[in-house]
Amino acid sequence: MAFLISGGKPLYGCIRAQGAKNAALPMLFATLLCTEPVTLYGVPDIGDVRVALSLLSSLGVKIEYDGSGTLTVDATAAEPPTFSLLEAEKIRASSYLLGATVARFGEGSIPYPGGCSFGVRPLDYHRAGLEALGVLWEEDARGIRVEKRKEKGAVYHLPYPSVGATVNFVLGALGVKGESTLFGYAHEHHVLDFIAFLRTVGAKICLEGDALHIKGGERLTGGSYTVTPDAIEAGTYLIAAAATGGEVTVEGVRYGELSPLLLAFGRMNIPFRFSGDALTVTPASHIRTTAVTAAPYPGFPTDLHPQMTVLLSRAEGGGKISDLVWDERFSYLGELEKMGLRVNRFPHGVRVFESKLHPAVVTSTDLRGGAALITAALACEGESKILEEEIILRGYEMLPVKLFSLGADIRTEA
Ligand code: EPU
Repeated sequence: MAFLISGGKPLYGCIRAQGAKNAALPMLFATLLCTEPVTLYGVPDIGDVRVALSLLSSLGVKIEYDGSGTLTVDATAAEPPTFSLLEAEKIRASSYLLGATVARFGEGSIPYPGGCSFGVRPLDYHRAGLEALGVLWEEDARGIRVEKRKEKGAVYHLPYPSVGATVNFVLGALGVKGESTLFGYAHEHHVLDFIAFLRTVGAKICLEGDALHIKGGERLTGGSYTVTPDAIEAGTYLIAAAATGGEVTVEGVRYGELSPLLLAFGRMNIPFRFSGDALTVTPASHIRTTAVTAAPYPGFPTDLHPQMTVLLSRAEGGGKISDLVWDERFSYLGELEKMGLRVNRFPHGVRVFESKLHPAVVTSTDLRGGAALITAALACEGESKILEEEIILRGYEMLPVKLFSLGADIRTEA
């Protein structure tokens, strides 16, 4: 399957942000801890969520989905995961089953989690956090097995604000009696949204500066919660608007999460305005060069780095982009080079030259790399073909429909 895009036209119009992928995924796995049904609103209909739901349903979780973002999950009859849960290999977020199964069942095992390939994606902080909580972590060719060996709270200092290790520590800590503290947790808004969800279903979690205090061993109930808007999806459309010289409004966004992108827009002379929860990007007379460094929040989001590379290629004098989160998140560059992008690599980053892009047949290397190819195809005249389109649909709900509503000429080829 592929996307065919005839680009070179400015995007114009208004769309609404989907619910955040990276908030919805940990919430879905956390429902394993809930003793009553949970209703989630704003769950995006994307590939990764479908895999998560399929995993939960294989464990005996009852799921009702109305097809428009509202999900009811009842995990009361769930069973622990085993190595036979092969779909876990499809997504990274399946690693959240480790913390969740320890908390709910005291044990469980999963095949190694998959997800986008950015070189090695270790789980050593996940392991160290759970081991601090008294969990036995064993690995072999089949995957990872965890087992709760003690009932004790713990203090763990994360060496790096890892999103996934924060989620797994919190889930694991909810299952052990007493108070646990996590220092150095990930401050991304989707992580805070996950914590807000847990509090809604009765978890006693308190944030104090750089520490998260978790009171474990208490029963989590059910409840309802609305997933926060997806700043990465919103940012992707806003970057595409700027790269095509168009005017696009994304409704349902929050300033704080988008502030690192908006700071970059400010430096690049890209005009934008907020009205309530709607953010509009308007055409720039000229785009100025800048340097962007992707880093944990409040740094520039790594998940917008590939899309930003395309925008920098439209700037006078190009620009520079570094990624301090994923060293290896650059495999998409080879595909963009087929479209005329000129770059020089340096350790952790790339110098982007102002480039005249042209259409090509390219392949999505990973989710956000695929989004960058879409951005480039929209920005240059002529028809591009983007293969492996399902990789992009892992994270973007109704992408062709949303782009079509903004005036893009996009088709899906079987
Ligand atoms: N790291 C370790 N050891 C660990 C965990 C992480 O060394 O045990 C390192 C990683 O190798 C990486 C850095 O820490 O260099 C950041 O990893 P993190 O754990 O924060 O990432 P993640 O939880 O695997 C989530 C998102 C990613 C997003 C990153 C960073 C989900 C499901 N995935 O991954 O999202 O890039 O946080 O914000 O939440 C995407 O949506 O396209 C995507 C890749």
